[in-house]
Amino acid sequence: MPALSSLCLKPAALSVQSSSQVSPPLSAMLTPLLLLGVLLGLGAARYSPDWPSLDGRPLPRWYDEAKVGVFIHWGVFSVPGFGSEWFWWHWQGQQPPDQKCVDYMTKTYPPGFSYPEFAPQFHAQFFNPGDWADIFQASGAKYVVLTAKHHEGFTNWESPNSWNWNSVNTGPHRDLVGDLGEAVRNRSLHYGLYNSLYEWFHPLYLMDKKNGFKTQEFVMHKLLPELYNMVVRYRPEVIWSDGDWEAPDTYWNSTQFLAWLYNDSPVKDTVVTNDRWGAGCACKHGGYYNCEDKYTPGQLPKHKWEKCTSVDTFSWGYRRNMKISELMDLPTIIKDLVQTVALGGNYLLNVGPTPDGMIPTVFEERLRGVGAWLKINGEAIYASKPWRVQAENTTLPIWYTSKGGTVYAILTAKPPKPTVQLLQPKTSAATKVTLLGLPKPLSWTPIQPNAGLIVLLPELPCDLGQAWTLRLDGVQ
Ligand SMILES: *[C@@H]1O[C@H](CO)[C@@H](O)[C@H](O)[C@H]1NC(C)=O
Ligand SMILES: *[C@@H]1O[C@H](CO)[C@@H](O)[C@H](O)[C@H]1NC(C)=O
Ligand SMILES: *[C@@H]1O[C@H](CO)[C@@H](O)[C@H](O)[C@H]1NC(C)=O
Repeated sequence: MPALSSLCLKPAALSVQSSSQVSPPLSAMLTPLLLLGVLLGLGAARYSPDWPSLDGRPLPRWYDEAKVGVFIHWGVFSVPGFGSEWFWWHWQGQQPPDQKCVDYMTKTYPPGFSYPEFAPQFHAQFFNPGDWADIFQASGAKYVVLTAKHHEGFTNWESPNSWNWNSVNTGPHRDLVGDLGEAVRNRSLHYGLYNSLYEWFHPLYLMDKKNGFKTQEFVMHKLLPELYNMVVRYRPEVIWSDGDWEAPDTYWNSTQFLAWLYNDSPVKDTVVTNDRWGAGCACKHGGYYNCEDKYTPGQLPKHKWEKCTSVDTFSWGYRRNMKISELMDLPTIIKDLVQTVALGGNYLLNVGPTPDGMIPTVFEERLRGVGAWLKINGEAIYASKPWRVQAENTTLPIWYTSKGGTVYAILTAKPPKPTVQLLQPKTSAATKVTLLGLPKPLSWTPIQPNAGLIVLLPELPCDLGQAWTLRLDGVQ
């Protein structure tokens, strides 16, 4: 990464094109070309800072094709590792506080211990970005999203706007965002950053809040300079925005930021964003939709969406006292992934690393399990499209995806009999059925002349995972 730490943008300069900020000589060379492009009508569409314009931007193609991502919640909250990444709020923010958090602090830490004192204990001494990236690659994920800053406000990079409350000035003394990004990209995975708009205890934010969000001190002097800087430095291809819900998008200046991101930022052609850009935006505005955490639609949504969920069902951040019974097991994860993709979604699976920089081995095992399943069944997942029918309406959970003329029927439970009925596909004389992972075609018979079929299943190999994919060619 070029050292761009001097690029602490002042709000007044924010509307200036990024290219001229980064490299004036290059932009001077490019300008005539750009001008020519515009004159010839070759220029890409420019977006104006309003939702109708921004919502009309086509989603860069890589994202829908990727289907699977890994989400990482890592920060100072990983040090207490208790309850969830919301620990600080539950302990000292909400009224009344969570008694379990208060008791934990009383029992475990000296009297008067404050949350910022956890930061020096965020050592990350075993953090090896290459090892992490190897695990993510082995999981079959095509993108990785790291918390650059969660609601506690601590940045995992040297933000000039977060002095002494970032991973370079204290704790790990390391550019976690940059180091992981390099390793992730080296494995040809896309790299995204989670960024919380609000910060629970930032004095400027609390002041704006007291003013009913009629002032924008926090946005102009903290949030936006930091966010623009983060994009220019790290060029994230996903901006996973969060913490928006207390204030409207006009307070956050979200449409102005997104117009810059889509028109002039260094990632304007490849970046995708979610829908958390202000109260009321979720499921309505932005790039793809998250709607709510762990959102699962009942039927095929019209708009591209992503399900984010966590292996630890109680928390996104690391918990020192997590129990195996509180984690999603591998079959549950694979079922969830399959259903999500059949319904047109991407699946972003979260793990919480420890403060010393390890991915708990149980999370690693889950991720590698997903990867082993995708190695055989990924053909039905990556770059697939929802089919005309999403599921078989039977007791056995069967989900459909498609690619070109091929239809995939994914069985997420072992059928009780050695045959399976598929009522939806329309067969023809050319119909061919195979099980992904096995070379030989399977026998089948039509149920009606051209509607539905019964497939004779082979012994379903358990090492193929907890879900089996029938590949159907020559069906409609
Ligand atoms: C914020 O939005 C206002 C309009 O709502 C605009 O005048 C101003 O330039 C924007 N500032 C930044 C830094 O985007
Ligand atoms: C990853 O790093 C290795 C070693 O530095 C290099 O040879 C390789 O080309 C890199 N791969 C990518 C995809 O950047
Ligand atoms: C699913 O099956 C039930 C019971 O047989 C039926 O009432 C329902 O209409 C079916 N739904 C679809 C979408 O075919």
